[in-house]
Amino acid sequence: MTEYERSAGDRDVLGVGVVGFGWMGQTHSRAYARLLQHYPRARLRPRLVAVADTDAGRRDMARTAYGFETAVHGWEQLIVREDVDVVSVCGPNYVHREIAVAAARAGKHLWVEKPAGRNLADTLEIAEAVRLAGVRSAVGFNYRNAPAVELAREIVASEELGTIETVSVSLLSDYAANPDGVLSWRFDPVLAGTGVLGDLASHGLDLARHVAGADTGEVVELVADQATFIAQRPAASGVVSHFATAAGGKLGPVGNEDHASALLRYESGARGLISTSRVAVGEQCSYGFEVRGDRGAVAWDFRRMGELRVCSGQGYQDAAWQVRFVGPQHGEYSVFQPGAGVAMGYDDLKVVEAERLVRSIAEKRAFGATIGDAVVTARLVHAIAESFAERRWVSL
Ligand SMILES: NC(=O)c1ccc[n+]([C@@H]2O[C@H](COP(=O)([O-])OP(=O)(O)OC[C@H]3O[C@@H](n4cnc5c(N)ncnc54)[C@H](O)[C@@H]3O)[C@@H](O)[C@H]2O)c1
Repeated sequence: MTEYERSAGDRDVLGVGVVGFGWMGQTHSRAYARLLQHYPRARLRPRLVAVADTDAGRRDMARTAYGFETAVHGWEQLIVREDVDVVSVCGPNYVHREIAVAAARAGKHLWVEKPAGRNLADTLEIAEAVRLAGVRSAVGFNYRNAPAVELAREIVASEELGTIETVSVSLLSDYAANPDGVLSWRFDPVLAGTGVLGDLASHGLDLARHVAGADTGEVVELVADQATFIAQRPAASGVVSHFATAAGGKLGPVGNEDHASALLRYESGARGLISTSRVAVGEQCSYGFEVRGDRGAVAWDFRRMGELRVCSGQGYQDAAWQVRFVGPQHGEYSVFQPGAGVAMGYDDLKVVEAERLVRSIAEKRAFGATIGDAVVTARLVHAIAESFAERRWVSL
């Protein structure tokens, strides 16, 4: 008997329930399905038990293409199942709180998509339910899991860059740049909460903390600005993605921000800048950061996920940037590819996220981003919105 056969025999099944089978529900499902292929020593074997989605086509796909054993309309039926141990909360922001709180109370571990609710109050309620139930949690801050991001974090922690002076994060997208882009739930504050802040800035704020937080500490003060450049959009009908358009439809008001930026001050005295837009023509997933110390800098761009730009060890002036391609020695790269420079993809980041959650469940302690990290981010998003509304610096 091989080592893997022996460990497979001892392995417990982890029953998976996914609520919301759109982009993220499908991505989570693929991550669970691939988990043992990349992590053959994982202590639990995910089994795709049930999907809940209000859309019949998506339920069909869950069964026929993904192999889920059952698919139901109402999430209430899913979270009470005894054969479901972990629930992925992948519906729109307005369903996160109700489903996540109910699932935690039913004793299910949680993988909640960011921003984990519509606002700080929702995120706090989910965090409290997780705490009271004693279940494990993961939140979809996937960009943390890129090996080049882990390398950047190591370089910052090693003090190779000296004392960190500035952290700039930028997340620009064109997904809502077309004025004919439909008025989906994302543009309605009752359903989504904030706009680009919850959608993209939440990722950026988490990335900045993850990469530089050990040196900079937390954000203690910020001042922000925001704008809604496309004030009206055509109404949506049926299930629509980020990118759906509907020229000529009846127009309705956009209730949250297209663009937001903020100046940040960290505990250490470092300064930060976050810049986000969902209407940036020419930008597709233009997500990245630059962290600058008094002796060097690192920079990362999600679109070139396997590359980290590094400038260090060359004195103060006329220093050149180098590109380091990540390889098996960086982060989780080795579970995907055997040699440096082979491109990883977005879905791989979700496999890493799934593994950290499964390990948290098996070992009963946290690995990866948890609901606690989502609370920190939600507080920052809340403070950015407050700063804009009140036209002032806000302390955290
Ligand atoms: N981590 C990331 O990089 C990332 C990327 C995209 C989206 N997200 C987050 O994931 C969440 C979902 O986004 P998406 O792009 O997958 O959306 P989507 O519109 O593609 O999918 C949402 C799905 O939820 C279903 N749904 C709606 N109400 C439901 C209900 N009450 N019960 C069950 N199913 C319901 C819809 O029918 C749809 O299939 C959002 O909160 C978003 O912020 C995260």
